[in-house]
Amino acid sequence: MNNSSLSTSTSISLKNQADREMFWEQQAEKLPWFKRWTKALNWTEPFAHWFVDGQINASYACLDVHIKNGLQEKIAFYWEDECGNNRTVTYGQLFLMTNKYASIMRDAGVKKGDVVIVYLPMTPEAAAAMLAITRLGATLSVVFSGFSAAALQDRIGDAQAKFIFTADVVYRKGRSINLKQIVDQALEVPCTIEKVFVLKRLEQELALTQGRDLVVNDLYEQAADFVEPVSVESNHPLFILYTSGTTGKPKGITHSTGGYLTYVYATIKWAFNVQEDSIYWCTADIGWITGHSYVIYGPLMHGISSVMYEGAPDFPAPDQWWKLIANYKITIFYTSPTALRMFKRYDVEYITKHDLSSLKILGSVGEPINPEVWQWYYDVIGGKRCPVIDTWWQTETGGFMIAPTAGLDLVDLKPGSATKPMPLIDADVIDEFGNSVPAGTKGFLVVKNPWPGMAIGLYKAPERFKAVYWERFKGMYYSGDYAIKDKNGYFWLLGRADEVLNIAGHRIGTAEIESATVAVPAIAEAAAIGVSHPITGEGVVIFAIVRQGFTSSVDLEREIIQSTRAHIGSFIMPCGIYFVDSLPKTRSGKIMRRVLRAVLEGLPVGDVTTLENEASVDEVKRVYQQLQLLLSKKNNSNSCSAA
Ligand code: WT7
Repeated sequence: MNNSSLSTSTSISLKNQADREMFWEQQAEKLPWFKRWTKALNWTEPFAHWFVDGQINASYACLDVHIKNGLQEKIAFYWEDECGNNRTVTYGQLFLMTNKYASIMRDAGVKKGDVVIVYLPMTPEAAAAMLAITRLGATLSVVFSGFSAAALQDRIGDAQAKFIFTADVVYRKGRSINLKQIVDQALEVPCTIEKVFVLKRLEQELALTQGRDLVVNDLYEQAADFVEPVSVESNHPLFILYTSGTTGKPKGITHSTGGYLTYVYATIKWAFNVQEDSIYWCTADIGWITGHSYVIYGPLMHGISSVMYEGAPDFPAPDQWWKLIANYKITIFYTSPTALRMFKRYDVEYITKHDLSSLKILGSVGEPINPEVWQWYYDVIGGKRCPVIDTWWQTETGGFMIAPTAGLDLVDLKPGSATKPMPLIDADVIDEFGNSVPAGTKGFLVVKNPWPGMAIGLYKAPERFKAVYWERFKGMYYSGDYAIKDKNGYFWLLGRADEVLNIAGHRIGTAEIESATVAVPAIAEAAAIGVSHPITGEGVVIFAIVRQGFTSSVDLEREIIQSTRAHIGSFIMPCGIYFVDSLPKTRSGKIMRRVLRAVLEGLPVGDVTTLENEASVDEVKRVYQQLQLLLSKKNNSNSCSAA
């Protein structure tokens, strides 16, 4: 799969900083700028400003350009839900909807500098709402519609958001969840929110708060058909997306407009080789970075047609997704290892009864993909015809960092490896002193240069941004992941190196789960541990100490589950809860999660104590014995496996 016109021009020396900047300028030139930048890059570690003084607007780059090129009749989204309801939305219709929403929001006071939260299900309306916010030059912050009222409240508070765009309901596995009610609950405490835009999907009456809630449907007819896109400087914050870190407080990853869009535009082409006639389906929700970069901005900037699906992968039947691929003749399919592992367990007939021959490219994201699952994806789904593009990246990186490039010269694939870095990304694997490790050795994955898609900071927390990503290793971006680089320069991702779990491709800090657990009055202390899980890659096990005067019980387990759902969201389901008398700690009082994990994995205690010589050995032994007893009684009926 060669496409020489796209290959990273070999005539320039990519070691030379000026040439590197010129390379990125060439990529940026493919976007519709209102005014060209005066400087490619201002780099004051850890803050990169790309395409300084350039003027651009994201909704213009995603919509207006195509309308101007006569593509208004082209399908932007084929939308379908789990009941089989479906509709198509053309670029012209999406453009109109975006302008109408922008008009409604502008009339309600939304302007450049405001933060607007989007709390919506996977619908074309969500895409229009996101784009409408960017059209006004306001900063967008999508909160995944599976997050709870408490999680929403936190994000409103941190972002000082003045507006929310939500809907009455979201559907999941045949149930409807009242989103508006969750918003009302989140707004019970005093906060910065001034107006709530509500999209009505059902006919039923809605409880509205006078002066605050505006029903979008009621204002739609009178709204203007065109709103002038607000031109913003390249480094104007396009969006804030909250993601988990090692503390209980989520981080507001902030992305620029010009640099971010340039990077997304370039990387979707490089990795997936999108074409005018591509039918593309990325299964991610807009609540995650994948849903931003590769459901909204990337596909729309390229003017391609996408499928958008609202619902669970295997509902009402396990062939739901394969049916969609066959019906829409999808050519590029991008999903997560968790979904693949789940499908691999079902009867293969669910797949083979559908014609998947339209597929050309397969993508994977979110977690390490095991070689067996990779091979299964390649053989069974791709019919041995389609390269598997395993894309390693993060909320912070904005776009793909390590992935095979089907749109450039495609390297030989190795099942389970994300292969090589994207053009001009200096990824490396280093030891704790910052030195590159020899091939085949595990170490920390870092990036040694700025790139246009990198986050411009943490919202209103520049010091934390510096401390988390740029201080551990001098002059390098620290990803928080372990990796191995083999002798051929291929990267093998090995999961997180910090106290962050990756459950079904969703990042959750152990600290957040622990704080939700100790919010239960009967719980004194808790530790959350990631263990390997056959479907979701990683699952969470909670160890909890019961407060004096309370006793452990099934009800208490239920209360903990309830609390994690209330604090984080209903997608969190602990796969084991153990009540213990004490937790193994270092002498300085840090919980030794490694010990707990070792017990779950059946390692002898001796192996554990040698790992951490500051540990109080007696305490470790005591906890170890107690846990073994508990484990033998409970014997993991919960399908969490230890490695
Ligand atoms: C973390 C980032 C990037 C979009 C989805 C998740 C893990 C992501 C891969 C991959 C192995 C991967 C890493 C990373 N991860 N993609 N292809 N192979 N691990 O975004 O929530 O920011 O999580 O997901 O551990 O640090 P995120």
